[in-house]
Amino acid sequence: MHSAIIDSAYRLLNSTILYFEGKPVGTTAARPSGNALAAVNYGDCFVRDFFPSALVFLMKGDSEIVCNFLTTVLNLSGQQERIAGHEFSEGLMPASFEVIENEKGSHIVPDFGDRAIGRVAPVDSAAWWMILLRIYTITSGDMSLAHSKPFQEGIRRILRLYLKESFEISPAMLVPDGSFMIDRRMGVNGHPLEIQALFYGMLKTAQELLLHDNSNKELLKMVNKRMLTLRSYVRLYYWLDRERLNEIHRYNSEEFGWDAENLLNIYPESIPVWLDGWLPNEHGYLVGNVGPGKIDFRFFSGGNLLSIIFGLATEEQSAQIMRLYHEHWDQLVGEMPLKLIYPAVYGKEWAFMTGCDPKNAPWSYHNGGNWPCLLWMFTSAAIRSGQGDLAHKAINDCALRLARDHWPEYYDGRSGSLIGRRANLDQTWSATALIIAHELLENPDCLPLFEALII
Ligand code: GLC
Repeated sequence: MHSAIIDSAYRLLNSTILYFEGKPVGTTAARPSGNALAAVNYGDCFVRDFFPSALVFLMKGDSEIVCNFLTTVLNLSGQQERIAGHEFSEGLMPASFEVIENEKGSHIVPDFGDRAIGRVAPVDSAAWWMILLRIYTITSGDMSLAHSKPFQEGIRRILRLYLKESFEISPAMLVPDGSFMIDRRMGVNGHPLEIQALFYGMLKTAQELLLHDNSNKELLKMVNKRMLTLRSYVRLYYWLDRERLNEIHRYNSEEFGWDAENLLNIYPESIPVWLDGWLPNEHGYLVGNVGPGKIDFRFFSGGNLLSIIFGLATEEQSAQIMRLYHEHWDQLVGEMPLKLIYPAVYGKEWAFMTGCDPKNAPWSYHNGGNWPCLLWMFTSAAIRSGQGDLAHKAINDCALRLARDHWPEYYDGRSGSLIGRRANLDQTWSATALIIAHELLENPDCLPLFEALII
């Protein structure tokens, strides 16, 4: 790849570094200036958006900003507003934070979804934070941060919140709509795959980070148990290949009692028309959401790729998912990698599901838009499943255009050929995702980072 492209990506990253009291603490979601379309909070540092920035810094041996970020976010955790009548939980981490300068000095102000559009709770933040802490520990060799008292206490607080019984009756985690990267109404309430993958990654990580002493014994047992039951559940109930599709197609419904086969009472009539003939033999994927009476058959890239990276999918399942990308390249990768959700929802379904959200019009934004920020996940998943050539193909086809288009946040259209109607330009994670993809493929020095990423 032309070095000018990578240089432009690094320039963008460096121009988004956020400072607090003279120390670098994160990166903003987009370059602050000259961005007429930028949403008001794109000057915030988002926890999920910083993850790929952190990987780039760690790749370059710059661990200071990552250490500052981890500490800043830890200090913010549990600072959400108290809601009268709720039992307060300290384990919640913010979606983002901003640095505000005024006459009284500079302050860090978190957003726990209480300022975000639609007021969504960031369930994914604590998982990204913990997984990043592990990568920081391995690549920097600094164990003292994770083993320090505040960090150990922080990890326990998160686990207490995430392992707490609520209203789910499966090992999967139950969340409201829009509680992760897809942070608007998109029918992703219930048990979305991406949350399950992040939860699994977080549990595996916690097992390594928590000190194995007597005080953590019971907690560690619980973490291990949940991790194993979640894994078996996802591998079985979320997996869809020809055979499984045929089983669902012939399901009996309304079964009662212990020996029911169609446990969740899925009606075969709910299988969408687009799936007919879409899955060749030896190809499969993890469906988007599974719950009582419901399977969301849409293909979600984030959830599938993270399941491969964190080992939630088996090796065979991972290989089949990557094969599906190869088979349906135009639909799932397209002109600008890659499709966030396939396929888009239209008409009345769109109206009910999104609440008539014009930003999520069919084949745009979260509803079937293409997101370059997924490139780092695609590349890592492809390498993990021995199909690095797919990642080469994906980035070679798009890199020049991405830089020329000024690193848009997302692209529109069935094949992702148009810059998104309301897309920000100079979006940080569009650039960092390409840097990571490029470095993982071309630079053998990045092997330790890759090994720290796959759990
Ligand atoms: C949008 C995305 C969200 C991202 C944020 C900042 O809200 O949906 O995932 O974190 O922009 O880039």
